Amino acid sequence: MNHLLLRVFLNLYADIFTDDPKNNVSEYIYEKLDKNLHLQTNHPLGILKTVIEEYFSMHFKHKPFTFYDDLTPIVSTQANFDSVLVPPDHVSRSSNDTYYVDDSTVLRCHTSAHQLELLKSGARRFLVTGDVYRRDSIDATHFPVFHQMEGVCVFEPQDWEARQLSSLELANSELKITLEGLVRHLFGEIEMRWVDAYFPFTEPSYELEIFFNGEWLEVLGCGVMQKSILDEASLGSHRAWAFGLGLERLAMILFDIPDIRLFWTTDLRFSKQFKAGMFRAGGVGMQKFSSYSKFPPCYKDVSFWLAKDSTRFTENTLCELVRDVAGNLIEEVKLIDEFYNPKLDQTSNCFRFTYRSMERSLTDDEVNQLQEQVRSRLVDELDVTLR
Ligand code: DAH
Repeated sequence: MNHLLLRVFLNLYADIFTDDPKNNVSEYIYEKLDKNLHLQTNHPLGILKTVIEEYFSMHFKHKPFTFYDDLTPIVSTQANFDSVLVPPDHVSRSSNDTYYVDDSTVLRCHTSAHQLELLKSGARRFLVTGDVYRRDSIDATHFPVFHQMEGVCVFEPQDWEARQLSSLELANSELKITLEGLVRHLFGEIEMRWVDAYFPFTEPSYELEIFFNGEWLEVLGCGVMQKSILDEASLGSHRAWAFGLGLERLAMILFDIPDIRLFWTTDLRFSKQFKAGMFRAGGVGMQKFSSYSKFPPCYKDVSFWLAKDSTRFTENTLCELVRDVAGNLIEEVKLIDEFYNPKLDQTSNCFRFTYRSMERSLTDDEVNQLQEQVRSRLVDELDVTLR
């Protein structure tokens, strides 16, 4: 369906397709904008969101958190980047990494995009849950749309004075106590460790890791909010902590879900396995996801020379193109060979595409047709020469 028709039929986010040369939102992505998986109470993402909100309601009984879960994912570049101090030359600003609606509007790539506006509106303790969008590679753990939860908690001078701590000490220790409690609420008694990290919006910054199935896994990023963000919200005499976590990642671990695409399936064999209220910390005594048999994959390789004088080809753009053609039928795009031919002064890439449906067997014909479309669009749009 062309953009104009889609616009007429859905008219939901009608301004997503613009003539702006920076616009890189595909129909495939557009169709995800009204799904709101995190609002479905019997969906693993909705279940996990509720469990996390319950923890915050309990932990902050006397100073309640406010929960936001319906803020629009279409935000200004100011909100997505500048308001949280993302440097002007940071890679996340490139249209290779982020979906641009126009030069000054993007699909948010993190829920941190809402920190400043909410602080300005008077919110002091809040969680924001929402869908976030990133151009990315294709495999079992990466999908261009996923869900994040952001938390912010602001302290006033009397909070640290009462405890004879510096503001930084208070924010830092409250942050760690709160998030260690959250991890125990989700995983039960589990080994965890704090690792120093860097985020432009916090100082100090950390990642919290858990020891799970024999390896250390990062579960969230966090830190003490940069003063200049608070200044901007006229909260210069205050202190705050903030964190962000990815819901898919946690749900895959906690419910044993092997492939990130399953969150988007409407197959009853998936959805009937999840019910609000089923969650148990660490999955102990909880029925985890039991995989149903997979349909067979179909592999297709394509080799091509990259153009010497064009920068159009990137792996993310290739993935985006394949997704635009094959939608949910593409499972993985993998670079399997790359070499440079000095005589020709040219580089060759070979990619293997894995096509697979979660719902049915694909026919040879259908896959061949998809692959043909990909091959011709590769030439037309990414300036490569097929080999
Ligand atoms: N926005 C970060 C991301 O998407 C996650 C994050 C890290 C959020 C640290 C925070 C924070 O609020 O303090 O990777």
